Amino acid sequence: MGNINAVVNFETADDGRIAVISLDNPPVNALGHALRSGLVAAIERARDDHAVAAVMLIGTARAFSAGADISEFGKPRKPPSLIDIVALLDTLAKPVVAAISGLALGGGFELALGCHYRVATQSARVGLPEVKLGLLPGAGGTQRLPRLIGAEAAAEIIIGGDPVPAAKALALGAIDAVLEGDFRAKALDFTRAKAAAGGKPPRARDREDKLAPAKADPALLDRVGEKLLRRVKGLPAPKACLDAVRAAVNLAFDEGQKKELALFMELLTSPESKAQRHVFFAEREAAKLPDMPASVKEKPIHRAVVIGAGTMGGGIAMCFANAGIPVRVIETEQAALTRGLDRVAENYRIAISRGSLTEAEMDKRMAQISGTIDFGAVAEGDVVIEAVFEEMDLKRRIFADIDRLAKPGALLASNTSTLDINEIARATKRPEDVLGMHFFSPANVMRLLEIVRASKTSFEALATALSIGRRIGKVTSVVGVCDGFVGNRMLARRTTQAEMLLLEGALPWDVDAAVLAFGFPMGPFAMGDLAGLDVGWRIRKARGVKAAISDTLCEAGRFGQKTGAGYYRYEPGSRTPNPDPEVEKIILATSERLGIKRRRIGAEEITERMMYPMINEGARILEERMAMRASDIDIIWIYGYGWPVWRGGPMFYADQVGLSHIRDRLAHYAANSTDKMLTPAPWLEKLAAEGKGFASLPVQTIAV
Ligand SMILES: NC(=O)c1ccc[n+]([C@@H]2O[C@H](COP(=O)([O-])OP(=O)(O)OC[C@H]3O[C@@H](n4cnc5c(N)ncnc54)[C@H](O)[C@@H]3O)[C@@H](O)[C@H]2O)c1
Repeated sequence: MGNINAVVNFETADDGRIAVISLDNPPVNALGHALRSGLVAAIERARDDHAVAAVMLIGTARAFSAGADISEFGKPRKPPSLIDIVALLDTLAKPVVAAISGLALGGGFELALGCHYRVATQSARVGLPEVKLGLLPGAGGTQRLPRLIGAEAAAEIIIGGDPVPAAKALALGAIDAVLEGDFRAKALDFTRAKAAAGGKPPRARDREDKLAPAKADPALLDRVGEKLLRRVKGLPAPKACLDAVRAAVNLAFDEGQKKELALFMELLTSPESKAQRHVFFAEREAAKLPDMPASVKEKPIHRAVVIGAGTMGGGIAMCFANAGIPVRVIETEQAALTRGLDRVAENYRIAISRGSLTEAEMDKRMAQISGTIDFGAVAEGDVVIEAVFEEMDLKRRIFADIDRLAKPGALLASNTSTLDINEIARATKRPEDVLGMHFFSPANVMRLLEIVRASKTSFEALATALSIGRRIGKVTSVVGVCDGFVGNRMLARRTTQAEMLLLEGALPWDVDAAVLAFGFPMGPFAMGDLAGLDVGWRIRKARGVKAAISDTLCEAGRFGQKTGAGYYRYEPGSRTPNPDPEVEKIILATSERLGIKRRRIGAEEITERMMYPMINEGARILEERMAMRASDIDIIWIYGYGWPVWRGGPMFYADQVGLSHIRDRLAHYAANSTDKMLTPAPWLEKLAAEGKGFASLPVQTIAV
């Protein structure tokens, strides 16, 4: 409890010569109204106290400030604003030092940029991540940072949005010193030295020297923009960030700040920013279980065991190793084990060659992973994750063995994509410890982890799985037991329609182009080629279902990239898909064989038939209580399947389009199709009739 207000404290050191203003608004010093007004009062007090010669602003160990309180977004903001606070700092004739430990992000970093000096701990990170919410730093950040570090470096930080480690920030000139040891005492020494030095304290707004290269070369920022905006083409926020930096170069400070604010206000009402802010909140919500009693504690996890060193097992082992958790990988034979571990090492080597990992770090991570062909090693795991072939009998046998060997209370998880976790759990005498941990390929890269809650799964097991997810850097969502769980179940609807589009008149590259234009990184057919068409073929054969075109391609040995041909043709060693006349011939012949009269299909129809059936399935998933929230489905699609974040996920997107439109279009397509799944789902019908959206649905518990 502070003495200015609940979250701000004012004290003095050196017989009143140094004012120390502490920010204490846990967990991360979000700049909510209380913190802002407390800061103004404290800064004014320091200004008006004649004994005070210098001021230090300091946060907590975790954060100087992680930025705006985004729960205030969309509401009228009560003054003072952050701009007011920084303007107040600009009027001070006494040096103000920002002492940064932990994070100084967004508005938090803008506050620090408004101070005359910045010092930081070694582990501190600073940055301006607003672009990730479809915004730009709107409290002078785009004007002050270029003046401190130059326009090019500032554009990279502002458009990239990633946090910058203290050492790099120091090298660039964004901070003045990195202090080791007792941080508070050292920062106080720094402040004391500045007080003693006297003179007019330096303001970022007055600096011009670092802007010189961009002023001398007007095309510099065009080139920077070309490089940085390529991957985010068409998005308004990154472009506005660049425009704001340009304003810093070309306009006087106050004019530049006006421009920044105007750009910020435009972005605030953009649909992209609305979607990105939805995702920000949805991600945090997804990790919560509404029916979890507060008393439930997760179990400690010191060691993991992964069974199977194939594609998934290796990637899952890497997730644990990357998080510093020792992991045992169990295989049936030495050759398979060696192959699996070699692939893990190869993946790390690729990361080194890309510059994202050091040799030393690789050695450290590899040292966390050890392989064995002794199944008895299961006993070592606090968590055991099974990732063997997708066969129920095999999985049941393995879980019976795990049951005999695993520690009492160990978390027992299967990475199955399609099998019934309840049946797997029944192979053990401890079904309360069993759940699904459905990773996505490549498991060490994809952020999504679906946690599958079976009928007997305990809250303790769920809490433990959620906590593991957090530790290994995954975005988690708890889902129910059903075919394909949430993500793949919806994907199946898209896959059916994709094949039908080909039969009715489209070509793979037409479909992929429409899905790419929507914002996905890849279309369904290029994705199929990447994953391998034989995977689905084998599953279809086992289930006795057909997919005329895909089956024909597989029968011709076209399994995708790995055979140099699938829906596309691939040059040796290249992953670039090339349209293939051979495939067109196969498609045309298949349509004819099935007596389907082909027609021209436009991009709009393709897009609707790719997206709306998935949304329809999402409505069924919610009705069956296989997902807790519509926004969980959004998270699953963004982090597991590359749904464009600026479209907010399928259910959010549906709400923006309007559910009655989606219902009408689905009804139209259903009337002209043999795909019965196109019929509007009851919950879609109901919400559309009531004029509501999926966002109006209350959070629910998973049906077990
Ligand atoms: N590949 C994907 O994209 C993906 C995505 C999510 C989930 N999954 C699921 O993950 C699981 C594994 O898939 P994968 O693609 O890694 O398969 P994979 O064929 O690449 O690997 C399976 C591995 O398990 C090993 N194995 C088989 N029986 C074993 C036993 N008794 N003890 C120890 N090891 C044994 C095999 O030797 C093989 O190395 C499956 O259930 C699959 O449905 C796969």
